[in-house]
Order: sequence, then C-alpha cells, then structure tokens
Amino acid sequence: MVSINENYLKLKAGYLFPEITKRVNTFLVANSNTELIKLGIGDVTEPLPEACIKAMKNAVEDMGDHSKFKGYGPEQGYQWLREKIAYYDFQLRGCDIDASEIFISDGSKCDTGNILDIFGKNNKIAITDPVYPVYVDTNVMAGNTGPINVENNRYDDLIYLPIKAENNFVANIPDVKVDLIYLCFPNNPTGAVANKEYLKSWVDYAQANNSIILFDAAYEAFITEETIPHSIYEIEGAKNCAIEFRSFSKNAGFTGTRCAFTVVPKTLIANTANGSTVELWKMWNRRQSTKFNGVSYIIQRGAEAVYSEEGKIQVNNLVKFYLENARIIRKQLNTTKLDKVYGGINSPYIWLKTPENISSWEFFDELLRTVNIVGTPGSGFGSSGEGYFRISAFNSRENVEEAMKRIKKHYKV
Ligand code: MLT
Repeated sequence: MVSINENYLKLKAGYLFPEITKRVNTFLVANSNTELIKLGIGDVTEPLPEACIKAMKNAVEDMGDHSKFKGYGPEQGYQWLREKIAYYDFQLRGCDIDASEIFISDGSKCDTGNILDIFGKNNKIAITDPVYPVYVDTNVMAGNTGPINVENNRYDDLIYLPIKAENNFVANIPDVKVDLIYLCFPNNPTGAVANKEYLKSWVDYAQANNSIILFDAAYEAFITEETIPHSIYEIEGAKNCAIEFRSFSKNAGFTGTRCAFTVVPKTLIANTANGSTVELWKMWNRRQSTKFNGVSYIIQRGAEAVYSEEGKIQVNNLVKFYLENARIIRKQLNTTKLDKVYGGINSPYIWLKTPENISSWEFFDELLRTVNIVGTPGSGFGSSGEGYFRISAFNSRENVEEAMKRIKKHYKV
C-alpha cells in the first residue's frame, strides 16, 4: 500500500476561501433568489489595464510568427521583465536589487509555500496571528509543525505573534530566537502598514539572530502614505536577511492571469547542518530550474506593460478605484453599529470588530442571512482574529454602494 504525507492529516478541514464558498453555496441552494454581494475573497473584479491587453495580444501574434515564436522561456523569467521590475520597483526607490535577483512566478501564494523547499526542518518559525493562512498550512504540509491544539486552534511548534488593536495590528518583536519570520505589509487581513522604524527593528532582529524574514508585499501598490516603505529593501541590511514576495494580482488585476515575482538577494546566506554556509539565491535558482518552467511568454509581456507609461497610469487608476471603494466602506461603516473599523487606507481590506462581541463565524452567518453580504471571518486567519471580520474592497462601485446601503439600514445606530 502506498503511504501518504501524514502531515496533511494535521490540517484543519478546508482552506479558508473554499470553506466560505461551500457555506455560501449551501445558503444559495435554500435561498436561490438572493442577490448576494461578495466582499469576501480578495479577488479583483475590474478588467485588465488596456496596456496589458495590447501587449498580450501582440505577444499572441509573436507566437504565430516563425521569427518571433517562443518555446520554453528561462525558468527565472525573461530578462526584459526582470530588468523593468528591478529598475521601477526597487532601484528607483533606492534599493540595490539586481535583475538577476528577481524570479518571475505564477503567484505569491505559490512562492510563499514553495520557498519552504529550500529550508531545513529544524527551523523555529514565527507567524503573526491573524495571518494569511497559506503560511501556516504550507508549514503544516512540510512537516514543520506538530498537531493542532484544539483548545486554541494553533499548531504546536509554530510561534504565534498576536496582532491586535492594542498593538496597532503590528506584532511585537519576539523575545526568543526564531529562524524564519513571515511578515506581510500592507497586511492581509488587517490592512495595517509598517513604518520604517518598525521594519528596521525586524531587520535588526533578523541580523542579530541570523534569521530570514519572508516579506510578503503583494499589496504594496495600495500604500498611500508617503513615509511607508514599499519594500523591505528600503531598510538598510535587509538584503542580508529578507526574501520579498510581490505580485501583479492586486495592482494590475492578474489574479486570473497569474504573474508575480520573488526577490532573493545574492547576499542571503544560511547554514548547512555542519555549519558551512550556502547562498539561498543558488538554492532557489536550482529549485525553480528543476520544478518550474516559467510563466508564459504572453503573460510576461502583459506584466511588462505594467511598467509602460500608459500601463503605469492605468494601474494607478485601478488601485485608486479599489481604494475609493475602501474609503466608502470605511466612511459608511463609521455611521453604523459596525464602527470599529481598521485598515482600508493603505490597503484594499477593512478589518472590523464584530458587533456585541459575537464570534466571527456568527457574524458571517448574520451578514449572509440578513443583508446577503459575504465577508471573511477573522477567526479564519487565526485565533487572535476571533471577534473580527474582513471586508474586501475588490468589487464594482455599484456593489460596494449597494452593500453599504444594506448595512446602513440593518445596523443603524
Ligand atoms: C485573500 O482574500 O486573502 C486573497 O485573495 C488571498 C490570495 O491572494 O491568495
């Protein structure tokens, strides 16, 4: 009999978003005429920027032209895209990142999970709580955790750093030594951001403890405050202790198109069991060359157009559109009983306290039943998310306005 990876048996029943879909579908079976508004999963709704569409159409033409046709591309991504990213996203912000340190991929979700391939089994791993569930589940799958503790819904062996209103939704620096630390800013799910001083305290900690920070910046395009860093490499020393994950999903609407990238600086090193050092860049390069064949040429041409003059304007408009949705949601919620709201200023996510301290899933059911709105229960992101709820600003203006109208009526003060 074939044996399985038993670590999968430790996972909680279902991944958060499919679990929500399941509950919504059950509701719809019994309430088929309902006009549901989905502000749950952070999936974009607006069409791709025209510049990207044009570039992808041209790339399709290339594929039909003998002289321009492309077979396998470089596993790391095409040089022309890596150079644009290095220049526009990093060098223009004063970050010394070279094109060769950028690895194009089909998503940050995949990369934040896949990165565990290059790390050993004995690392102490810290995550925030609440947290993007992928970081936890992929560590469970990789065998980096013990079983789940049913009392607090936390996995043994992971170090949980609570983020709450009391600490402005940013985790305190741990007083123990950890090896790998997942940070996400602007934060999913709370919408909180990290200023330079705060990120510097993490970089200092990581350098002092030989730790590696796994920095998820998938939402950096939503930063509106000028003093907030967009990349961890804006902090001196970060090239020695951080890997950064970026995505075209939320800024340019590539959730269905799939393109992202991961930055692995060549200066990053880690230890072998016998104490010698290895470059993580070489390991990730080896991993990608073996397990990945790159993102399609057509899609990479689309991503390249994000950096064209018209592309930059169009992407900026998309981001502004969702941020305006977030502003409307915040403003309207503030006039209701649901007025304890956070995030939504540098982020497409609004994080709110549930009314009368009801549980996150109770509030999920209540919103679904009474106003036919789908959101995401905070407890789905971790036990410290209990009593909170996430509303996503990724939807049409019409739907956002209608959702707020329903909420204002039902939760009138
Ligand atoms: C979310 O809703 O948290 C995001 O859609 C997750 C993701 O991007 O995978």
